[in-house]
Amino acid sequence: MPSPLAHGQPVAVVTGGASGIGAACCRALARLGHRVVVADLDVAAATAVAADLELAGPARLDVTDSVAVQDLMDSTAARYGRVDVVVTAAGVDDPEAKAQLGARTALRQPLDVTVGLDDDRWRRVLRVNLDGTFFTVRAALPHMIRQRSGAIVTVASSAAYDAPAGYPHYSASKAGVVALTRSVGKEVVAHGVRVNGVAPGPTVTPMTARTPDVIGAPGSLAVRPPARAEEIADVVVFLAGSGAANLAGEVILANGGRFTA
Ligand code: NAI
Repeated sequence: MPSPLAHGQPVAVVTGGASGIGAACCRALARLGHRVVVADLDVAAATAVAADLELAGPARLDVTDSVAVQDLMDSTAARYGRVDVVVTAAGVDDPEAKAQLGARTALRQPLDVTVGLDDDRWRRVLRVNLDGTFFTVRAALPHMIRQRSGAIVTVASSAAYDAPAGYPHYSASKAGVVALTRSVGKEVVAHGVRVNGVAPGPTVTPMTARTPDVIGAPGSLAVRPPARAEEIADVVVFLAGSGAANLAGEVILANGGRFTA
């Protein structure tokens, strides 16, 4: 069987690659010799990330647009001949819910986020975090199945497991990502394709900069401080690589010992 490298560098597509965890994944994969497509809604930031990397290029992508996601995956495969690694790091938080949570927690008042959570805020989080992950996984699979190789790494969240009070939409979206990863991982392993995920705990990125200190601070000294984005990228690189050859449908909780799942 030809080596994946027979056609040149392995090819990676990272959604949400312009910031935080996704950008750290782009840098880590580029360091390992991948050609990286930095795909993000924010094309200016994607361009800046790609500019610092060898063999990387930006792509404007809205992961909620299933046709655009399929187009990007197909054009990448047509241009470079293959798609070896896909990381689904595009995701959103809900700054309004976080602000409510912060204010209530600071005043030691009971929370009331759910009754005020309107359809638009619910749908936005589910659309980007869950639909967007599904669209990306579905678009990558035909190419990887044809190659009989490839690794997809989804980015879930520890919120999928501890379901923090006052953050039901985000928690539900990430629990969906975990279930999607487990199901598809088992389905496609017979094609030589591995789908796994990482569920980060608090990680220092622009997303957590929007988390009020009162709800973001570790409650116990017996845990590590929030992770660096590079530490989450290390887990992603492991899952994408041959060292994880026997992992399929696995989601690794990377939360510095805050809890176990
Ligand atoms: P971030 O806000 O720094 O980066 C997210 C990126 O996704 C941004 O570049 C943004 O432009 C992009 N994005 C948003 N909507 C998009 C769309 N519709 N299409 C394409 N790109 C889009 O956030 P961070 O922290 O790097 O988060 C990355 C992933 O990790 C997210 O899925 C997040 O939910 C998850 N996560 C983050 C944690 C943290 O503590 N920072 C903890 C657990 C999970």
